[in-house]
Amino acid sequence: AKVAVLLSGAGTNMAALLYASRLPDAPYEIVLVASNDPDADGLALARDENVPTFALSHKGMDRPTHEERMDAAIRESGAEYVALAGYMRILGSDFVARWECRMLNIHPSLLPKYKGLDTHARALEAGDSRHGCSVHLVTPELDDGPVLGQLDIAIRAEDTPETLAARVKFAEHQLYPRMLGDHVSR
Ligand code: GRF
Repeated sequence: AKVAVLLSGAGTNMAALLYASRLPDAPYEIVLVASNDPDADGLALARDENVPTFALSHKGMDRPTHEERMDAAIRESGAEYVALAGYMRILGSDFVARWECRMLNIHPSLLPKYKGLDTHARALEAGDSRHGCSVHLVTPELDDGPVLGQLDIAIRAEDTPETLAARVKFAEHQLYPRMLGDHVSR
């Protein structure tokens, strides 16, 4: 299956998806990495790996226009699925509807806990003993779609949001390629 990845930042999840896609018998390939931030490190990483990229800043553009042009680039790439990997723009209902059941997101919490931002600090403040990540289908409501899979990890007494985030990232990099592969193989 052909997959487009959308990101706004470092792109470590994109890298995990990409490297997994290069293993023998991988069920998907990354045909495009697109970003709303032309300076995103994840775009540079994709270019280094000879993956086609598309960058379009959302600044000075209304949301429908920006999404329409992102969508056009994704379609042009031949992508059948979209994987959000740290894409920091909320998506409008038209875009979400067009990719219904074919757009996945990774979120750094054990959904339905801690939707939105600052999930690691919130888990620590709540005194949770475990934390983790979830891969879910994208629906119009933020971080709310059906969960495809989760990986949970232990919280340590000495954890800070930063140390916890780093360990959750390791879990994310294991979970996302597996869940994407399973989903496109259904
Ligand atoms: C990850 O924590 C992911 O769960 C969240 O955004 C972050 C992206 O990190 N949606 P990276 O750019 O993949 O390193």
